[in-house]
Amino acid sequence: MKFFVDTAEIDAIAELNDLGMVDGVTTNPSLIKKSGRDIIEVTKEICDLVDGPVSAEVTAIDADEMIAEGRKLVEIADNIAVKVPLTWDGLKACKALSDDGHMVNVTLCFSANQALLAAKAGATFISPFIGRLDDINVDGMDLIGDIRSIYDNYGFDTQILAASIRTVNHVTECALVGADVMTAPPNVIKAMINHPLTDKGLDAFLADIKAAGIKIL
Ligand code: E4P
Repeated sequence: MKFFVDTAEIDAIAELNDLGMVDGVTTNPSLIKKSGRDIIEVTKEICDLVDGPVSAEVTAIDADEMIAEGRKLVEIADNIAVKVPLTWDGLKACKALSDDGHMVNVTLCFSANQALLAAKAGATFISPFIGRLDDINVDGMDLIGDIRSIYDNYGFDTQILAASIRTVNHVTECALVGADVMTAPPNVIKAMINHPLTDKGLDAFLADIKAAGIKIL
């Protein structure tokens, strides 16, 4: 499973990228607002840092404007994926931009039918929002499983990019259900390493190293 980082914070991306944990980056207008930076400037910096796809979201809601914005965004770097919302205008923009040969991430997906439409419109990525479904008492993971089955049934090559990941359990469940990619905030990816038995075991080994005076170098 590929790991995308869901942030526009350069330092956090760089830290995880140095560890080989970053296969791509996703941003959205809320994350750009949080960064306090110009969208073009910060997106270029992310694209320079990361080899994989970097999603940058359009601001328009009309298809022609989305297409124009998408064409401007792809000029930033070769690894831009244009992010469009799951509306008919968004799908029209998806079709036009993917026909042009650009990567498109269709976002704000909350149903299997929406994912089916996005795949037929040529989406490179479909972004089902797990956490926001969980927020309204709907199991977001069921949606990932349904999309996996549908895409496999018909051989769609649109990649399932599990988004709105809020917990380390979401990551495990996405991997089990077969999401192609998951995008999570840096703190969730960093929390994946935590296990109390690792800490306890290391403490015991360190005590024995000290007691026995074991030295390698
Ligand atoms: C990713 O593409 C989404 O923008 C992001 O995962 C949304 O997450 P949130 O629901 O926690 O805001």
